[in-house]
Amino acid sequence: MATTTTTPAPNPLRAGLRLQRTAPPCTVVIFGASGDLAHRKLIPALYALERMRRLSPSFQLIGVANMDWNDEQFRKEMRGAVQQFATPDDQVGDHEDQETWDGFAARMQFLGGDFDDPALFQKLGAMLKQLPQAGGNVLFYLAIPPSLIGMVAQQLGQAGLNQVTEQGWTRIIVEKPFGRDLASAKVLNHQLHQIFDEEQIFRIDHYLGKETVRNIIVFRFANGIFEPIWNRRYVDHVQITVAEAIGIERRGKYYEEAGALRDMVQNHLMQVLAVVAMESPVRFEAGPVRDEKAKLVNAICPLLPAGAASYDTVAVRGQYGPGFVNGEAVAGYRQEGDVKPDSTRETYVALKLMIENWRWAGVPFYLRSGKRLPRRVSEVAIQFKAPPFKMFADVEPEMVEANTLVMRIQPDEGISLRFEAKVPGTDMRLRPVKMDFLYGTSFGEPQPEAYETLLLDAMLGDGMLFARYDMVEAAWALTTPLLEAWEAEGPEAETAPAFPNYAAGSWGPEAADAFIRRDGREWRRP
Ligand code: BG6
Repeated sequence: MATTTTTPAPNPLRAGLRLQRTAPPCTVVIFGASGDLAHRKLIPALYALERMRRLSPSFQLIGVANMDWNDEQFRKEMRGAVQQFATPDDQVGDHEDQETWDGFAARMQFLGGDFDDPALFQKLGAMLKQLPQAGGNVLFYLAIPPSLIGMVAQQLGQAGLNQVTEQGWTRIIVEKPFGRDLASAKVLNHQLHQIFDEEQIFRIDHYLGKETVRNIIVFRFANGIFEPIWNRRYVDHVQITVAEAIGIERRGKYYEEAGALRDMVQNHLMQVLAVVAMESPVRFEAGPVRDEKAKLVNAICPLLPAGAASYDTVAVRGQYGPGFVNGEAVAGYRQEGDVKPDSTRETYVALKLMIENWRWAGVPFYLRSGKRLPRRVSEVAIQFKAPPFKMFADVEPEMVEANTLVMRIQPDEGISLRFEAKVPGTDMRLRPVKMDFLYGTSFGEPQPEAYETLLLDAMLGDGMLFARYDMVEAAWALTTPLLEAWEAEGPEAETAPAFPNYAAGSWGPEAADAFIRRDGREWRRP
């Protein structure tokens, strides 16, 4: 009997992903073009895309800011930004670079004015109409303080720029923070939704653009051996650490309003947690992936345990005092510029989260993030359960260490698995060893900056790596009660911790060690 084999038709989505992705013709309009973000990240990222030939030859850029610049001055300023902030891999400054820059700069224009002046938006509309080569496609980037986002969105709406042309698309990228608590996030989402459809809105969280965070999805769902053990039967607990050696730099004003919970945990750490713990999306597309992430965050138990009067068993906060980082003496938080001398703002947070679903019930997720810790390190550590019986107790009276899988987000990007091995020799002794994957050695190619990936995705209309409104609100719903409880305690409250409670250059407050030890566990010292 003849057998027939049918070759499955290629999946067009996957085929598309494997092709080099190039942005369609469009105009990017940056509000806040004279600001720090435009200098440090946006213009260098767009220019890197240009150098990689990922922008269309019809790409156009309009910078908007309240500055008295003309096009030439804007171009000169941005050239300086690229030279200062491009990554070393970009080879900025060589001969070829000058030619590429000239071509790029020729497509840049500047528009100066007040964001609350409707005439500015009329002028912008007229400028956009003069750029037919961009195909009517427009991407607005709001690199502006959060207090201005609603107003600029409204102005765009009033000037009819929420849909610039009938034939092209219009999208808007919004920078974090998305609100400062649940109520303000809802107001902001409502304001945006009155003018733009959710599909037009791209809320940036640059952690989602990091290669190593994107790889977590590949690691989990493109391999057969990890997902079966990625659950409560095998995992003892998970630690997510985002440690920074830097302090608040010159952002005292912002940080006094924000603090570590708002600045890092509500957004970056929650996004990483969602990618680590979500269920398998039904397809590798923005909708299904974001559905799973939102479901996961909604499955996290409210922070305050039922019947508990305080958050002490689930949350610890800290603030750095003076100390030494990398051998250098550094000031304490209260001595930084624009910070109140008795500020109770937290620069360190540790949380214990429990996820109430079949996969994770009973498995604690410990999250921590802080400034002025000994080094910059972001990682996710999956700590597996110890072997069920102690066969080697006679030869190794110390506990045999449990297996740990560590996904290093930065630096030393890679993944390692720790397991026990026999020390060579006639005696029977055990020691933990590591199997290590390092991006640097396995792939010769440099990693793109998160903003390069995210800007390209927004131009392509792929929202997978952007935060959807429901996930943002779910993350605020979880964290807002804790923020409110902490903020209600003034510096004199008896229950408030005596700040500063950790020295710059240490691994955070002692209370954070006691907090995890109560559960019979230890923080990793990466
Ligand atoms: C930003 C925070 O979102 O992320 C900063 O506002 C923080 O306070 C930064 O330093 C950390 O980003 P990265 O990519 O350096 O880990």
